[in-house]
Order: sequence, then structure tokens, then C-alpha cells
Amino acid sequence: MAVRISGKEVSEKIRRQLKSEVVNMRSLGIIPGLAVIIVGDDPASKVYVRNKELACQEVGIRSEIHRLPAHITQEQLNHLIGQLNGREDVHGILVQMPLPPHLDELEVINNIHPDKDVDAFHPINVGKIMIGDYRFLPCTPAGIMELIHHTKVEIAGKNCVVIGRSNIVGKPMSMLMLHENATVTICHSKTRDLAKICSRADILIAAVGKAGFVTADMVKPGAIVIDVGMNRDGEGKLCGDVDFPSVEPVAGYITPVPGGVGPMTITMLLKNTVTAAKNL
Ligand code: GUN
Repeated sequence: MAVRISGKEVSEKIRRQLKSEVVNMRSLGIIPGLAVIIVGDDPASKVYVRNKELACQEVGIRSEIHRLPAHITQEQLNHLIGQLNGREDVHGILVQMPLPPHLDELEVINNIHPDKDVDAFHPINVGKIMIGDYRFLPCTPAGIMELIHHTKVEIAGKNCVVIGRSNIVGKPMSMLMLHENATVTICHSKTRDLAKICSRADILIAAVGKAGFVTADMVKPGAIVIDVGMNRDGEGKLCGDVDFPSVEPVAGYITPVPGGVGPMTITMLLKNTVTAAKNL
């Protein structure tokens, strides 16, 4: 039976460390500040932004939320980002995605100053990750690395399979595992023999977006299984990409949903904001 990796526990430990760092910074007159921009009223985005605000409060980061109407123009949004780029009390800027379709997400990302890009979505930060010279890591892959390190299992030389090739999770995740000397395979919707490839993984990372996609026959006995999925089942219950009941008896370690990768993502955003405040 797999050991469950508790993202909640690992997250709490890191938040305690961040909290004491922020106390020290505040005593030196530095108050880490995060500006979050939300456009429109997508219900899921509203919940995410509220959770970010609460998490900031918990560790002593000053947060400001800019709530903009869905009909805002690209120029107005660019103007706000420009103002935040120029403010000394704002160390991190996050524009909650997705944006309404008339707004260009790439242009928005490009407009955020790379030193304030706490999502690590800017091409400069993406490039830095590629060459292993980074200050910020995208929050979800960074959180996953913390969870894998928490198991104390050696990564070097292991077969790591990442299912999903998104810019936010799959691609940076693969790069981080490569930096730690894993042999990395990236699978996607066109991959042939996906189940066979997955079943050779010592570390299997599922970022597919399909409930119950990873089944027991795809998992090597003893493997670390990381579930990045955030899906709703037929009854509206939150569930991951991994068929937890069948995989748990086969895997060596497994992250639950909820309570696995999810809590780590916001914690890594807090960490990036503190890092940004230290370096300005
Ligand atoms: N929407 C869903 N996840 C994210 C994220 O990690 N960052 C931003 N900016 N928007 C998101």
C-alpha cells in the first residue's frame, strides 16, 4: 500500500518557514507585496484569487487584488501592469488566467517585469528554467519537486514519465526532473503505447485533466505517483487524474486529491513573492 504524500503537511511546514522569514524582512522594513489582477467573474478564478489572498495574510505578505470588469481593453490592462511594474512596494504580479477571449494572454505575460513574474510564465523566466539558472519556478512544478524531495527517494537515474505537455506544468516539470538527472519521457495525446511507457516509470506525473486516466495497470509497483489533476466527477466531487482506489495498492508513494499538489501551488507562489522581495 502506497505512502500518501500530504501536500497539506509539506505546505504547512514551508509556510511556517516563510512566515518567520517575513517577520525578519518586516523588521528590516521590507514588506513583501503581491498584486493580483483578476478580469471578469469566472467563479473558479474568484475562488483561486480569494485563496491566494488568504494565504498571503497567513504568512504576512501584503496583497492587493485588482478586480477588473470583463470588458476592459488590452491597453487598460497593459497600463495597470505598467504601473505595478514601476511600484517599489509591489514585488510580485500575478494575472489570474484564463482571461476573457478578447485579451491576449501572451501579451499580458510579456508585459509583466520578469523580476516580478511570480508565476514564472515570462519567456525570460521560461528560458532561465531551461538553462537551469532561475530565481522563480512555476508554482505547480516547484510544489511537485518539494513533494518528491519529501519522499527522500533519489531522483538521479530514475525513469520519470510526465503525462501532459502544458507550458504551466508538463514542460517545466520535465525540465526540473531533467536538472535532477532523471531520464524523462513526456507523453501526450498523440503518444503511442502510453500505458506501456507509464508502466516503466519510477516517477509518474499525471497532468492530463481527465478524471481516473491513470489506472493500476499503468503503474510500476513501488512508483512515486504524482496527481496534478483537478477534475470533477459525475457527482461534482473533486478528483484527480489518477484512479486512486486501484493505484494506491500498487504505488510506493501517491499524492491524494484534494490535499496533494493543490496546497503546494499557492505555497510556492508565496515563496516566489518572498524571493522577489528579497532581490529587489
Ligand atoms: N489559473 C490557473 N492556474 C493559474 C496559475 O498558476 N497562475 C495564473 N496566473 N493563473 C492561473
